[in-house]
Formats: sequence, C-alpha cells, structure tokens
Amino acid sequence: MSEINGTLNGMPITARAGQTVGAALVAAGITSWRSTAKTSRPRGLFCGIGVCFDCLVTADGVPNQRACAMPMRDGMVLETGMGERPDA
Ligand code: FES
Repeated sequence: MSEINGTLNGMPITARAGQTVGAALVAAGITSWRSTAKTSRPRGLFCGIGVCFDCLVTADGVPNQRACAMPMRDGMVLETGMGERPDA
C-alpha cells in the first residue's frame, strides 16, 4: 500500500493512498484542528460524512475545506484554523 506525505502546521503527516485528510489526521493521533470563534473550543471529526462542517481545515492555502470529505494528496499543506465557522 502506497504512502503519501503532507504537513499540518509544518509537522509531517503520513497517510495511506485514498485516505481522507480527516482520517489521516486521526490516524496520526490528532483529534482537533480547529477552534470555534466565540469560545475557542476544539473541533475535529464529528459526523465524518461532510454534513456538520466541524472538521474545517485550510488545505494548500484554501480555507474552510471539510477534512472528512477531502482525499489526502501527496505534498498537501494543511493548516489549523480558528473560528472559520460561527459557533452553532
Ligand atoms: S466531520 Fe462533519 S463535515 Fe466533516
């Protein structure tokens, strides 16, 4: 099985080909990568199917991407975000 590599805030992340960004982050032991705007509460995967928008991440400079619905690509540069989505 081939491996692909990327980074989260400069930290190396290794994923299996076909894995979503969210799956790769959780497999790396990272369970939150966004903070809510009002209360700075941690967010990561919740629904896992692209519905809740809790898993937003900046990918290759594009903010507000759903980590659970986006395949990991080799060389992908991920950045954590803060409050891109208003608190519900
Ligand atoms: S975890 Fe719900 S949209 Fe990604």
